[in-house]
Amino acid sequence: MSSLPSQLAARIESVTGVDPELRPATKPQFGHFQSNVALRLAKSQGRPPREVAADIVATLDAADLVETPEIAGPGFINFRLRTDLLAQAASELVADPHAGIAQATDPQRVVIDYSAPNVAKQMHVGHLRSTIIGDCFNRVLTAQGHTVIPQNHIGDWGTQFGMLVQYIVEHKVDVSALDLAETEQLYKDSKRLFDADLDFADRARKRVVMLQSGDPQTRSIWTSLITVSLAGFNQTYARLGVLLTDDDLAGESIYNDDLPRVVQELEADGLAKEDDGALCVFVKGEDAPMIVRKKDGGYGYDATDLAAIRRRVGQLKANRIIYVTDVRQHHHFDMVFAVARMAGFLPDDVTAEHVGYGMVLGPDGHPFKTRDGGTVSLASLLDEAEEHAAPNIALAAIKYADLSNGLQKDYVFDAERMVQTTGDTGPYLQYAHARVSQILRKAAAEADPQVDPQVDLAGLDWGTVTVLEEPAEQQLALLLSRFGETVEVVAHDLTPHKLCTYLYDLAGTYSSFYEKCPVLKSEGQVRSSRLALCAATRRVLGSGLNLLGIDAPDRM
Ligand code: ARG
Repeated sequence: MSSLPSQLAARIESVTGVDPELRPATKPQFGHFQSNVALRLAKSQGRPPREVAADIVATLDAADLVETPEIAGPGFINFRLRTDLLAQAASELVADPHAGIAQATDPQRVVIDYSAPNVAKQMHVGHLRSTIIGDCFNRVLTAQGHTVIPQNHIGDWGTQFGMLVQYIVEHKVDVSALDLAETEQLYKDSKRLFDADLDFADRARKRVVMLQSGDPQTRSIWTSLITVSLAGFNQTYARLGVLLTDDDLAGESIYNDDLPRVVQELEADGLAKEDDGALCVFVKGEDAPMIVRKKDGGYGYDATDLAAIRRRVGQLKANRIIYVTDVRQHHHFDMVFAVARMAGFLPDDVTAEHVGYGMVLGPDGHPFKTRDGGTVSLASLLDEAEEHAAPNIALAAIKYADLSNGLQKDYVFDAERMVQTTGDTGPYLQYAHARVSQILRKAAAEADPQVDPQVDLAGLDWGTVTVLEEPAEQQLALLLSRFGETVEVVAHDLTPHKLCTYLYDLAGTYSSFYEKCPVLKSEGQVRSSRLALCAATRRVLGSGLNLLGIDAPDRM
């Protein structure tokens, strides 16, 4: 069900015919929400605003939601939600394991393509962002009851493996003895040779053909490279605490056998045409075509993504497909979606979205680079954050910094600021959660001195919210009741920063409540009601942090 404020807005709109644009009241004496709808309508109707406001109030049928609205100043209407409803909404949260997140009535199968590092190279900051953002989408959509199918589209295929394997053969390298950093060095060495030595480049190209045709020695080296890389990726995933597993692997190589078919279908539909030896698909409004088969007969990144979409719809039965990569790949996905639609791989009832993210900048405001100009590995970023804080706090700091700005924006990686427990940071939210947990723990210990200090606080009975006389209590209850709706927006628009803003507001509103309304020192029904409000806050903060992939500690 929609939150109280949105129910109210709908009810007003049914009278005014326009969005009342409810705004939170600036002062408690103005109630909870204010609308200037009468002022707006007065202009077009040529009537005094207060008269229009009086008409709206007289016609509005919302006594089940609000107290009698008040008309203020030049014609504002002030609304005060009924506190019994607010109390009820907060009480429901205390016991609701979903913390007010509505379960999808029509659950979808959602493919999320994220992380996607490249074999024989370390994950860099871009992959860090993709992994954290995709993990958040996974959690949010799963929490709504959708079936999420993560697809880790690792770069495990392509001409670069020809040169890498050729180099390994010629230098008799034992790949199984290497770690990921060492394979990356091999990659660089083989690339250097490839660019400098034409004969080697030739042998490397022949090696690509051997890889494609399944030559045992070539395949075995290639497999070892993947094994070594996966061990490195999995170490990072474990360190990040993300949901990805080996079951989610769907690297580029798995589409190899599909590629000729895909191209055949495009040709049969008359979509693909030869152009200067290459097979191309022209898309209306685009200057350059998509090349689905290169002059030399090879397939590339574009063709592979077409095959992937075809399989995600055809075999995985996706209703919605989400791609999380660098914003610079936006055009690539535009083209892939356009061609896939033309080819019927992507029917109209399946949505495809590309979520692009910005760059991580160093303290100097330039893209993050190592001193020698290389890309910064993800491990070194984590190491840096951990210099300032314990691992779970450092991780919260990084994830929150990654998710709390609009995703498209670049952001500055400032480890020292990110780990602060004050300000708009992950650790601040963790701290708010620990604080509210501490109150509940004390209350539990007062009620039962024998209680285990490690008791699961969510498992205790916190009763219901019954008294909401103080404005600070009402504000808290009101904000708590909006969590479900916030999650809905985030799931729809794929905008985790809105969840971050919500949680940051909640932590602040909880702080004001805590300053103005003593909890443990109050008595009787007020005390038990405030404790229930604390339990609801803990539930929502904990659930919200979990959706961001951030650990919600009971102690800090
Ligand atoms: N491996 C690619 C990279 O590192 C990202 C792949 C994204 N997914 C996709 N289906 N193209 O840039």
